[in-house]
Amino acid sequence: MASHRPLPRVPLPGQPDRPAPDAIALDGVSRRFPGGAVALDEVSLAVREGEVFGIVGRSGAGKSTLIRTVNLLERPDAGAVRVLGLDMLALDDAGLRAARRSTGMVFQHFNLHTRRTVAENVAFPLEVAGIPTAERRARIAELLPLVGLEAKRDAYPAQLSGGQKQRVGIARALASRPRILLCDEATSALDPETTRDILALIGDLRDRLDLTVLLITHEMAVVKAICDRVAVMEAGRIIEEGRVFDVFTRPAHPTTRSFVAEVIGLDVPEATLARMPPPPPGTIRRLAQVLFTGPHATCPLVSEASRRFDLDINIVSGRVDEIAGEPFGVMALAAGGSAGQVGAAFAWMRELGLIVQELDR
Ligand SMILES: Nc1ncnc2c1ncn2[C@@H]1O[C@H](COP(=O)(O)OP(=O)(O)OP(=O)(O)O)[C@@H](O)[C@H]1O
Ligand SMILES: [Mg+2]
Repeated sequence: MASHRPLPRVPLPGQPDRPAPDAIALDGVSRRFPGGAVALDEVSLAVREGEVFGIVGRSGAGKSTLIRTVNLLERPDAGAVRVLGLDMLALDDAGLRAARRSTGMVFQHFNLHTRRTVAENVAFPLEVAGIPTAERRARIAELLPLVGLEAKRDAYPAQLSGGQKQRVGIARALASRPRILLCDEATSALDPETTRDILALIGDLRDRLDLTVLLITHEMAVVKAICDRVAVMEAGRIIEEGRVFDVFTRPAHPTTRSFVAEVIGLDVPEATLARMPPPPPGTIRRLAQVLFTGPHATCPLVSEASRRFDLDINIVSGRVDEIAGEPFGVMALAAGGSAGQVGAAFAWMRELGLIVQELDR
């Protein structure tokens, strides 16, 4: 999926700039449902102002419980929740209502009122907040162009496509001028092209309105398209976290590796492998996926490796891609020679800073 937004403006770890303050800070948050498993198990997380932070995980990992903890739709059993500097658990009802207005939420299934028009759906949270009619009208007139729905003002949800329905959901989430947008699988009910449009819209709104976005998804492609940083969840815990580029190019946890492989892994065509002659007696052939993130060019590397280690190297497939604006190349190669030399060649590539992952075939 292509990147739809400019380079992140958020100071990232390792950079000398002072990092942006935390918009959302969870500390040791736990939640167990009665009679159920632990949905959140001491989760700590800091989302900086202005970033798009992704949470990725399989079904049941605890993602929705986590995002609902941020605006206290779900109350944790233990831990601290701070949003824009406020201790959410210490607020009284009026304070909580005010704090919730600073966090807009977007849902997978849109949650629109079927009997209300687009404009009436967008106005709904303003009505609930007791905003006078004239002010509501003015706000709707600002919001609909922001999400490209001026022409659908008086349409009913049943007359809209999935992408248009989600635009209504986004406009409604923005009605109270929140600083934070919480998106729970906002694109999971949409086709890939509409997903790209909606992600581009969210990225654009982040830039134009200076929003912080916490986005939940089970798709690594969504993370790759829009997020600055990502946390991977499994069984109620965060198992890995970092800049999207780092997590994609150096996944540490096996679950993260399998997620990443879905997006940047190469197809190794069986037919190509089948066409290769068997390795001569006394030699082996090993397949590896090599990720280039640094200044190394592929061709000198392959010829250099084959000279140094006396190997036959075939490039089986390859591609150049980009994550969060940073380019990388990935290539699958078959290296044939003595077992010691093949191992030495992979070790040499790793020393050069390439990420070499052996494929079991
Ligand atoms: N209201 C509830 N009552 C009981 N158990 C719940 C409740 N909500 C969630 N759970 C359980 O908590 C765990 C985490 O659920 P959660 O909805 O947060 O997962 P998720 O990562 O959002 O999954 P999905 O990708 O399917 O939306 C699951 O085991 C789920 O069955
Ligand atoms: Mg969920």
